[in-house]
Amino acid sequence: AISRDFAYGIPKAELHLHLEGTLEPDLKLKLAKKNGIDIGQESVEEVEASYQFDSLSSFLAVYYPAMNVLQDEDDFYALGSAYFARAKENGVVRAECFFDPQAHTSRGVELEAVIRGYYRAVEEARENGLSADLILCFLRDMSADSALETLRAALPYKDMFVGVGLDSDERDNPPQKFAEAFDLARENGLRVTMHCDIDQVGSIDNIRTALTELGAERLDHGTNIIEDPELVKLVVEKGIGLTSCPMSNSFVTEEMKGEEIVELLGRGVKVSINSDDPAYFGGYIADNFLTLAEKESLTKEQVAQLARNSIEISWAEDSERSAML
Ligand code: HPA
Ligand code: ZN
Repeated sequence: AISRDFAYGIPKAELHLHLEGTLEPDLKLKLAKKNGIDIGQESVEEVEASYQFDSLSSFLAVYYPAMNVLQDEDDFYALGSAYFARAKENGVVRAECFFDPQAHTSRGVELEAVIRGYYRAVEEARENGLSADLILCFLRDMSADSALETLRAALPYKDMFVGVGLDSDERDNPPQKFAEAFDLARENGLRVTMHCDIDQVGSIDNIRTALTELGAERLDHGTNIIEDPELVKLVVEKGIGLTSCPMSNSFVTEEMKGEEIVELLGRGVKVSINSDDPAYFGGYIADNFLTLAEKESLTKEQVAQLARNSIEISWAEDSERSAML
């Protein structure tokens, strides 16, 4: 296995991280108090005790209502700023962070407050030597029209985010539902990735569609390509990156999917390790490396390959990326 210092110290990119999933109980309570919102809990212990989930849908049912404490631009900045500080401690040199505008605009928060708040944190991270960008995610359980409308409203700020993604509940919400929004994103020079969740029936078909019809450049989760040798081949040939999240996987499926990760790594797939929603799943990125390395008895070389993959498949500028490797 590897040492804690090695897991924390090795330079890495974090590519599957939801900023809303970094809302720690203490900040949640602080913002609730500031904004006069009753969240039903009064202490960190009570908040933690409410984190009971064993599937994607039971997680999302806790996750979305909690976002209500985020009300103004400063709240989004505070959340982003706290994450980037943690990321630095975890050896992250490049962070590409998802955010869910519709989870905020749907409850009356201005899109501009969300983007400007997060972007202020991005600028601060850059000043502190951490390369960072934002990825705007569509909520797949909302309508295709809502995704399009959100993207159109965000385009005036398109210098503040690097790409688009797709998250929330995959069941009955296949990626082709959002073909038009992805087209518009690509026409505007934005990069494209999407969640293909590991616990979902039909996700193999969704992965195929994402890659062959929708221009996905990465797959978030996506380790179930292992069920289909043709897909593994396609992903290797195209150099498509996978953003895997071991500790998140343990919650959602009771398995880290470590064997799949190791197998895919061995077959030349550019798989990476990430934390997904670290405030909910018990660990930031270095802990995800450590936990996986321990469970699968990874060698230093395998861990180094996972870290290198994350930088290679990141969307940093070419020159910046080469300097990180
Ligand atoms: N899958 C779907 N939706 C999400 C996730 C995820 O891993 N994390 C936060 N929202
Ligand atoms: Zn995710």
